Amino acid sequence: MKKKIIAPSLLSADLAFLYRDIEMLNNSDADWFHIDIMDYSFVSNISFGGLFIQYVKKYASKPIDVHLMIFQPERYIKQFKQYGADHIHIHYEACIHLNRTISYIKENGMKVGVALNPHTPILLLKDIIKYIDFVLLMSVNPGFSGQKFIIQTYKKLKDAKDLISKEQSSALIEIDGGINLDNSSVLFKNGADILVSGSSIFSASHPTKIIKKMKSVY
Ligand code: DX5
Ligand code: ZN
Repeated sequence: MKKKIIAPSLLSADLAFLYRDIEMLNNSDADWFHIDIMDYSFVSNISFGGLFIQYVKKYASKPIDVHLMIFQPERYIKQFKQYGADHIHIHYEACIHLNRTISYIKENGMKVGVALNPHTPILLLKDIIKYIDFVLLMSVNPGFSGQKFIIQTYKKLKDAKDLISKEQSSALIEIDGGINLDNSSVLFKNGADILVSGSSIFSASHPTKIIKKMKSVY
């Protein structure tokens, strides 16, 4: 799979002009659409439901990367497939039967990622890293856009790379939260494959330029 992927998070889009923002991303260098689903329980915020994914899917010309910040995500896997998800990330902290849920997501024809909160060590993925497509490292505490990047993520990135190579896994490393032009290049250089970015892209006067710059590693 292609690396140095930028996945803009629609949490920061202007929802009154969603179609305009989808078209902007279709015509940009962005690779995926990242959609954050929250349940006001695992995180203290509510965002979108499946209908939102359905509408985005209708117009998006790129894969839909769904980040489930919900407890017991196994309850809704089939529905998210029907709504149009191409990838599903479930949180390690929110899913008791991780192995079974990973298989279930794959059986439903989607790629699967496991997301880790900033406090959760990579080592906990040792026995499943071979069976997943992505490791999603949260570089902020999940729930909101516009937060500050947690600096310990660099060490976490190194740990993730080491575990992936030790276990001969092909999982790609995705990083989510507080990503901007000051840290995107160094994250890619240090082995990140996918960067999710919300507020830095959508608050810019020329979002497509930011996306282009984020993809150029210098
Ligand atoms: C946070 C979400 C992120 C968020 C990123 O819980 O998972 O995807 O939208 O937004 P920024 O880039 O503004 O931190
Ligand atoms: Zn996210």
